[in-house]
This record gives sequence, structure tokens and C-alpha cells, in this order.
Amino acid sequence: MKPLLITIDGPAGAGKTTVSRALADRLGFRYIDTGALYRAVALQALAAGVDSQDDPGLEALCARLALRFERLADGVHLLANGEDISGRIRTPEVTMKASAVSARPVVRQFLLKVQKDLGREKSAVFEGRDMGTVVFPDADVKFFLNASTEARAQRRFAELSDDAGQTLDDVTRDMRKRDKDDSSRNLAPLKPAPDAMRIDSTRLSIEAVLEIMLARIEKVG
Ligand code: DC
Repeated sequence: MKPLLITIDGPAGAGKTTVSRALADRLGFRYIDTGALYRAVALQALAAGVDSQDDPGLEALCARLALRFERLADGVHLLANGEDISGRIRTPEVTMKASAVSARPVVRQFLLKVQKDLGREKSAVFEGRDMGTVVFPDADVKFFLNASTEARAQRRFAELSDDAGQTLDDVTRDMRKRDKDDSSRNLAPLKPAPDAMRIDSTRLSIEAVLEIMLARIEKVG
């Protein structure tokens, strides 16, 4: 397989993470979870007490933030200024803060460069919201993965640990808000690139989604 840059965009709970990881494994490519980068900024902002609307505060925070992925035996970890933060970025609080800071141009600008640098070597599957539209408009293969709100909320709920303390209704409500905010923001809103292949995973298994993607990649690769 020649070095390709593959993008997978879509809303939360559409199956992007599972599919992107499996696809990267199959192809021997790197898997890059760009949502984790927004979560890292959110975590630092929460720790430093920086408001999501405080652009100068966010800009200063980003200027001090070095982000890097590291592959360990149990998967890919995210390091912020050398500290492994992978275990702390999936809480409901960080999730909502990530959505809020991701609407700020200073944050998107900072992460745009981080992501472009990560994509320079190709041979990677990038998962996010604006991979095919903004970050890598020239990607070799683009996918937009979606599913019904009910299916997506169910999946997210099933992934949560009991100590997250959220009901299915809480998850559905947060997801609707996040979908609305992510799709309606002015800057890099969540939407399919015109040349992305759209896949609805509501009634498809992971394996079925993978097969559709691999068939498409084979045509290009
Ligand atoms: O995929 P995720 O749930 O980990 O993403 C967390 C938040 O980051 C999500 O609400 C939207 C934002 N995000 C983004 O704006 N652009 C990306 N490429 C990835 C995530």
C-alpha cells in the first residue's frame, strides 16, 4: 500500500474511533485522534481556570502547550508537555469544555499547525470533524461517518463507566447540544467534504463499515 492520507469525519458516536483504529491497523498506518488534541486544550484550560471565551488566555495556554502522541504497548497515548494525559480527557466535563474551546479561532489555529505537522509523513488515518474540509482538503481518501442520534447516544452511553454518573438521557441531551454547537459554529463546522464518501453506520457492523472503506481505498491506492 502506498503512503496515503485518509480522513474520517463525523459526529460523536458514529463509530469513527473504532473504525479509524481498525482501519489504521489493517493498513499499517498511524491512527491520529484529533478530538484528543481539543480535549488536551480543554483539560489544560480547566486546570488553569481559563474561560472558554477568554481568547488571550487560551492563546497563552496554547503557546505553552507541546502535544505529542506516543505509541505504547496498550495503544496510542497523548502527552501534554511530557505528561501522559490519556486517562483524564474522557470525562463529561472535559468533553463539554472541548466542544466549547473548539469553537475559538485561536485554538483551531494552534491545532491546525499541530495536525498538519502530524500529516506530513502521510500513511495515517486522521479522525475528527474537519479533517477532509479544512485540515487536509487534499487528502487521498475521505469518509464521512454518521448514524442516527439514538444509535450514537446508545453507543456513547455503553462506553461510559458507571462512575461517570450519567443516564442515557444525559448523554442524549449532551450529544444533541454538542452536535448543534459543532455543526453551527462559523469556523470549520462539522460537515462532509464534497468529495467524501458518506457512510451511515446505524445498521452496519464495524466489519461492514471497514469493508466499504477498504474497497474505496483499494480503488485509490
Ligand atoms: O471526537 P471527540 O468527541 O473526542 O472531540 C471532542 C471535541 O473536539 C468535539 O466536541 C469537537 C471538537 N473537534 C473539532 O472541533 N475538530 C476536530 N477535528 C476534532 C474534534
